Order: sequence, then C-alpha cells, then structure tokens
Amino acid sequence: MRLLMVCLGNICRSPLAEGIFRHRAEQAGLNCVIDSAGTAAYHVGKAPDARAVQVANIRGIGIAGLRARQLRPSDADAFDQIYVMDGANLLAANQILNNPASQHSKVAKVTSLISPSSKHSGIDVPDPYYGSIQDFEAVFGLLELAADGWIRSLTDRNING
Ligand code: 4NP
Repeated sequence: MRLLMVCLGNICRSPLAEGIFRHRAEQAGLNCVIDSAGTAAYHVGKAPDARAVQVANIRGIGIAGLRARQLRPSDADAFDQIYVMDGANLLAANQILNNPASQHSKVAKVTSLISPSSKHSGIDVPDPYYGSIQDFEAVFGLLELAADGWIRSLTDRNING
C-alpha cells in the first residue's frame, strides 16, 4: 500500500503524519510506502519545522531527515490513497492532480480515518505554523487518532476476509 500525506507547506502537519503512519505500519508489520508533500512550493527542500521535529522526537519518531517537496500530477498514479489535512488542501490537491470526479475518493481528509462516532471524525487538522508547541501537540494527537483508525480498518478487513 502506498500512502501520501499532504498539507500546505510540507514542513509541519504532513511530515508528522508521514512519521506517525510509518511508525504504526512498522509496528503492525505492514509493508507500506508512506510519503508526504505540500500543495505550495514555499518550503521545497527544507527540513520539517523544529517544533514538529521536537514533538515527534519525544515520542520516538524521527522526522528530521525528511525534506519538503511539492505535490505533482504524477502522485495521482504513484499512490493508492492521498490524505490531506484540511479542506483547502483538498481543493488544491484535486486541482494539482487534475483529479477527475470519478477518482475523488482517492483524495480524502486524513481525519476521515477516525471513527464516525468520534467528534474528531472528518475535521480539519489545524495549521500550527503560526501557533505554539501546544498546537503541534494537538496536531500530533489528531494524527495518532487517524493512524489508529487506519490500522483498525486494515485489521477489520483482514478479519472479515
Ligand atoms: P503545514 O504548515 O502546511 O502544516 O506544513 C504550514 C507551513 C508553512 C506555511 C503555512 C503552513 N507558510 O505559510 O509558509
């Protein structure tokens, strides 16, 4: 399975999502390709924001080696599923990918992985760039819930054949 995580700058939310989902996949023994990209090019080539690196490091997830890149049209074919952080990312990603309506389910908010019974299901992952370390902690928690939902959906599928 190939998953791509997408935010605006690819230095805060989507590198955290990449690190968390990769960590969970490894724990679960899943053979997955996980990558991330931004809809904007402002930060191409840069390492993740120091606050994102710090919040991940505390939990044993290393993301300092990641480098930002921009989303490109070929990503539509290179990945099975593309998860965005918010509604603005969704619009921008579908535009960059030239995504036809028939393929729209390929691009979804990462929080759509959270159980519909949770109040967090389907919400935007808030942009923490102009925020505090607490905002990065909140992003991390939300992405953990999404990763839980992802792993659970795969496990359920296996149990049900
Ligand atoms: P991200 O956060 O989309 O989670 O990587 C942002 C990073 C940079 C900017 C905005 C959001 N910026 O405006 O430069």
